[in-house]
Amino acid sequence: MKTEAPNPDTIVWFNDQFVRLAEANVNILTHALNYGTGVFEGIRGYFEEKQQDLFLVRPVEHYERWKRNAGILRIEIPPSAKELAELTAELCRRNRFQRHVYVRPLAYKSSARIGVAPDQNDAYALVVVPFGDYFDSAKGLKAGVVSWRRVEDTAIPGRAKICGAYVNSVLATDEARRNGFDEAIFLTENGHVSEGATCNLFIFRNGKLITPPGTDNILEGITRASIIDLARSEMKLDVVERSIGRSELYVSDEVFFTGTAVELAPIVAVDHRPVGKGEVGRVAARLRSLYVEATRGRIPAYRHWLWPVYRPLATIKAA
Ligand SMILES: Cc1ncc(COP(=O)(O)O)c(C=O)c1O
Repeated sequence: MKTEAPNPDTIVWFNDQFVRLAEANVNILTHALNYGTGVFEGIRGYFEEKQQDLFLVRPVEHYERWKRNAGILRIEIPPSAKELAELTAELCRRNRFQRHVYVRPLAYKSSARIGVAPDQNDAYALVVVPFGDYFDSAKGLKAGVVSWRRVEDTAIPGRAKICGAYVNSVLATDEARRNGFDEAIFLTENGHVSEGATCNLFIFRNGKLITPPGTDNILEGITRASIIDLARSEMKLDVVERSIGRSELYVSDEVFFTGTAVELAPIVAVDHRPVGKGEVGRVAARLRSLYVEATRGRIPAYRHWLWPVYRPLATIKAA
């Protein structure tokens, strides 16, 4: 899918102030633009008509991950995760967003000069834009294993959302789309299934939900963690983190992707082979619907995942 260019009048947080998106620009020599030295995040917010509120999904966990991973590049993001969540809510209010949104936090090495050696000039920005479905995934996706291998932790850590590392995802997505697939599946250098270009992967096999471990060069997804929680608590499923072989994808009962943008996207074919019966599986369908209900604030047990933009937190907690 291709998203539209956001409205240039959107209010964003840039250089410690609220400015119009059209004014949030960097110098052509910026270190991050030349060398990929940025760390970003992706957070969703869902507007729930019935409750007339916009719920940011697990913003504190996303911002904690962002701050920790920025530390890998020794980029400092001064506000606390809670302050960043509140700042994001304020951006939504200033833009009067009453629809689903996507938040793009970006921290980066900001010096504008030639030279690879990093310094301590760091900056960060927060942008919120209206956002719909990433994939039309209700009927299931066709995925393909690509020839590019997932970036190794010994080269560029995939567990951090490092801007430069996304060249890996761009190459994989381009290859997958040109070959007629909706999304790419990466293998690691030693042949284990790692993840999609922009999402984590699960298989359902012999009654168990299985997903690759952090050591198979995955991004440790927050949606992945949410789906594991829902599978264990609501469906009493056995969830196992272990390496997955390529051909296991062909013999699994179900395969699906998870991620902030893709949400839970069932896969109905891998490498032109049908997964299970070649239709959306029972486990994926149930988990998908639980995830939708939980992220719209409709399941009280998961209300703590959500940061309401228009109602003060105290009102939610008291409810
Ligand atoms: C490479 C990659 N893997 C997995 C994910 C899923 O992570 P999360 O569920 O935290 O969005 C993403 C999306 O951000 C990603 O870019």
